[in-house]
Amino acid sequence: MPLCTSRQLVPTKELLQKALKGKYALGAYNVNNMELLQAIVEAGNELKAPLILQVSAGARKYANQTYLIKLVEAALDSSDIPIALHLDHGEDFEICKACIDGGFSSVMIDGSKHPFEENIALVKQVVDYAHPRNVSVEAELGRLAGVEDNISVSEKDAIYTNPAEAKEFIDRTGVDSLAIAIGTSHGAYKFKGEAKLDFERLAEIQKAVGDDFPLVLHGASSVPEELVKICNDNGAEIKGSKGVPEEMFSKATQLGVAKINVDTDLRLAFTGGIRKVMKESPSEFDPRKYLGPARAAVKEIVKHKIKVFGTDGKA
Ligand code: G3H
Ligand code: 13P
Ligand code: ZN
Repeated sequence: MPLCTSRQLVPTKELLQKALKGKYALGAYNVNNMELLQAIVEAGNELKAPLILQVSAGARKYANQTYLIKLVEAALDSSDIPIALHLDHGEDFEICKACIDGGFSSVMIDGSKHPFEENIALVKQVVDYAHPRNVSVEAELGRLAGVEDNISVSEKDAIYTNPAEAKEFIDRTGVDSLAIAIGTSHGAYKFKGEAKLDFERLAEIQKAVGDDFPLVLHGASSVPEELVKICNDNGAEIKGSKGVPEEMFSKATQLGVAKINVDTDLRLAFTGGIRKVMKESPSEFDPRKYLGPARAAVKEIVKHKIKVFGTDGKA
């Protein structure tokens, strides 16, 4: 369904193909409410960066898909950068269809919990519905789990993406991008010991799928110590958190990663911003007085991400 604005959303396929050629990546930022959306879009506007806004099933339930789409229409009207609206971790055909019918320009069908053949059949069903409507499709192969330091080779093989399977999966589904498992995981506690990603496997995956196919890194927040500290100094209890070191992103981008998913870091920035006002001004009860600083903190972290991922000036 076309949106009620003169500017339209861009399919992620277009943005990711361009990013692959330029060897940079697009951040895909999770949106749950107006303040997060405004923060992300203002950051993109200021740095002339194309953006992927992503909405999870939980975000749809929390905010209502129609509200989110109307907010995104407002964002399009108040910006001049390319923007994609993407469903994050759609678990079945129905949710993908609802998002495509509602105007999203991209969906993720996450069949990673299913056996290989079932995952393929599900993804193919979504691709067949999405492509004639000019909507891009992301799928996932492998499992994003918190990984122990001493994981064995056979355990790793069972969890991480297999390069030959990735190639077959792409050929048989016609999917536009693929989320791969190489050691990242969702949330603020990604590594028990040292942060390690399996770059050798990533290189093998890229070799198998070709350097013109975009790969996606989920669970890619860096969990910056400064943001955790602001939360903890203001009453939070976040202990033992660890994210993906920033220097790993340029390596990933050189090996075919063109989309990097970030949610946790935005949550930390937003929560820190609110907590600080709550602690410093306990008599304050105007939501604008704490949501405003929280929005500003998210904008700062998104600007930082845009620079780290090399997306600035690419709009
Ligand atoms: O990968 C998951 C994203 O961080 C979205 O999280 O399902 O709590 O909205 P959520
Ligand atoms: P983080 O939890 O690392 O931010 O990952 C978010 C994500 O992958 C959303 O799909
Ligand atoms: Zn994810």
